[in-house]
Amino acid sequence: MDAVSDPTVETIELEITAALASLREAFLPRFRAAATAQALRDENAKILGKKGELTAILKLLGKAPPEGRKAIGEKVNALKQEVESGFESCLSNLRLREREAELSAPPFDLTLPARVPAQVGHKHPISIVREEVVAVFRQLGFAVFDGPEVEHEGNNFTALGFPPDHPATDMQDSFWTQSNHVLRTHTSNIQVRAMKSIAPPMAFIAPGTVYRRDDDATHSPMFHQIEAFLVDKDVTLAHLKGVLAEFAERLFGPGTPVRLRPSYFPFVEPGAEVDIGCVFCKQPNGTRAGCSLCKHTGFIEVLGCGMIHPVVFENCGIDPEVFSGFALGMGLERLAMLRYGVPNIKLMFDNDPRFLAQF
Ligand code: DAH
Repeated sequence: MDAVSDPTVETIELEITAALASLREAFLPRFRAAATAQALRDENAKILGKKGELTAILKLLGKAPPEGRKAIGEKVNALKQEVESGFESCLSNLRLREREAELSAPPFDLTLPARVPAQVGHKHPISIVREEVVAVFRQLGFAVFDGPEVEHEGNNFTALGFPPDHPATDMQDSFWTQSNHVLRTHTSNIQVRAMKSIAPPMAFIAPGTVYRRDDDATHSPMFHQIEAFLVDKDVTLAHLKGVLAEFAERLFGPGTPVRLRPSYFPFVEPGAEVDIGCVFCKQPNGTRAGCSLCKHTGFIEVLGCGMIHPVVFENCGIDPEVFSGFALGMGLERLAMLRYGVPNIKLMFDNDPRFLAQF
């Protein structure tokens, strides 16, 4: 029997054509009736989805004998494309309308209080200690000077009297960037920058981030320092000691003893390390019993200092016969660890909220 005259093919073809025709008429009004993008998607799924109406029509095709399928299949596919492009254009219309509604609606009031009390952030222990130290020096009349963290070796080493073979200038101890530049290994570079740009007298502090190739329980490759320096006529070691005594009292409490131990730094002469009375074993009567943290000496080292070396003055264009001055530098992590009894410097940088919430 001829395939064209096969009643089954004809019946199925008629059935499919009728179904396609009614779907063609219905789909656009249905899409247009959808009020939201989600409603539109749902409607689209009812037609094109796995169990959708057009999919059902497509399944009828399987019942037609092979020779009739191609023509019917083309009709089904043509409608499918119409439905798809109808869906896309309705969707973009809807989005446009939603956006317009959003833009013309009254704006959100960002000043309204939150329904749930938000967790308020707080300062990092290093920031707390930095602000305290800065405040003490400001009370004493020091201004704040800032400078770059990538520094020319001249300002970080040479002008400060570091001999070329000093270990700090070695690749193993400092981070060198492009040639002749280092991530500054201390804030003492600020002394050089200030003295080269400002005529004495001057009294500055310089808080900042510094970098060294050190990494253990008490050293981090990145840490923070505060430098302080004062240049004027007739500045003596007594002025330095006076400032240190004031600093120790204001930061660690009245009566905190200070002692200087001779030490070497290339940019000062004489140079000293400064100890303060141990904050951990201090008794109510002001004496110190000695503890493991101060190695039973009653004193703890907090900073380095000294009288600015004549060579440093000369390197910065200041006459050492006319002017004198002192400088000191301290590590903020160390101060914060002493202050709060933190045993490992890594805790300062892990940013564990359980640690930070304690300050
Ligand atoms: N720059 C020294 C360091 O990083 C600290 C220091 C020592 C600074 C003595 C000074 C000073 O100004 O006089 O270890």
